[in-house]
Amino acid sequence: MIKPCKQIGARIAGTGHYLPEKILTNADFEKIVDTSDEWILTRSGIRERHITADNEFSSDMAFEAAKMALADAEVDPKDLDMIIVATVTPDMPLPSTGCLLQEMLGAKKAAAFDVSAACSGFIYGLSIGSSMIESGKAEKVLVIGVETLTSITDYTDRTTCVLFGDGCGAVVLEEGEPGEGVLSTFMQSDGGEKELLYIVAGGSKTPLTTERIEAGEHYIRMKGDGLFKYAVRAMVDAARHTLKEAGLGTEDVTYLIPHQANIRIIEGVRKRLKLEKEQVVVNIDRVGNTSSASIPIAFSELKEGGTLKKGDLVIMVAFGGGLTWGAALIKY
Ligand code: UT7
Repeated sequence: MIKPCKQIGARIAGTGHYLPEKILTNADFEKIVDTSDEWILTRSGIRERHITADNEFSSDMAFEAAKMALADAEVDPKDLDMIIVATVTPDMPLPSTGCLLQEMLGAKKAAAFDVSAACSGFIYGLSIGSSMIESGKAEKVLVIGVETLTSITDYTDRTTCVLFGDGCGAVVLEEGEPGEGVLSTFMQSDGGEKELLYIVAGGSKTPLTTERIEAGEHYIRMKGDGLFKYAVRAMVDAARHTLKEAGLGTEDVTYLIPHQANIRIIEGVRKRLKLEKEQVVVNIDRVGNTSSASIPIAFSELKEGGTLKKGDLVIMVAFGGGLTWGAALIKY
């Protein structure tokens, strides 16, 4: 049952993704830090990850994924009303990567901005974008999740560097019927746990200085075990909220697309939601943790694989730094 106030639906008109050509395998990391393929694979589920070339940045990846999604949707960039880019690794602090992308695409009439919600960024962006369509304020919205995590990764810290990869995923939303597309979304945060995943330097409180850079304070720091404990509970809770809001249950779900942070977290979420392994979209082995890009990349790959059918119910769940978490329920 869809809430009666919804007169307009936000349908998924197109999907796209981009992964940089260069790949770092676990064997490569054995030469960089004190680690092993066995440790990385069993603890995280990651075998390899894509990393950007020296002249490749978040806006470039967003441009490629956006072109694919727009072509899939048969939407001209000039008709976009809004571009939302979820990222914690923008090309630069100002302007937003959304504005850079707006120019690259020639999306003349689009409002463009970035959303900073770490690994939950795409879900936050999708929630904002679908709300704009449902309220009648926009007809066509491009939502992007993109990260150049390698730019904030400390390659001397084995507890983080083996996990992260670069990439981008994109979705084009457009007006549809109520009851199709984004059925419900859920977002929540807990700033009290900010020290589980953070970057100290580079903001107004702690501007970049030579000392801070030498101390590696511009790199991401993570307390993996603390996040792990929080993640499964929060993701399951978010999934249940979206299902409840749409009047649906886990038995109605066709596919689960979880944020790809750790295969053991993904398994924990799957089991608690009582879903079969075949229902869960997993690409962490090939892609690693790409933060806000992970869900839209997996969604686009699912679509590309040809198994996604009209009417399938897809639930996306994310969790990340902030802390932030959320879910989106989609009737494809
Ligand atoms: O995407 C946003 C949110 N992120 C997450 O949700 C990540 C959640 N956390 C995780 O995925 C896991 O906690 C990790 C994969 C990061 C770590 O797995 P873990 O099973 O929690 O390992 P741990 O941090 O408890 O470390 C176990 C041991 C430690 O050694 P001692 O203290 O037991 O001697 C670490 O020093 O493994 C050691 N270790 C490593 N060993 C080899 C940590 N990193 C590595 C490494 N290679 N790369």
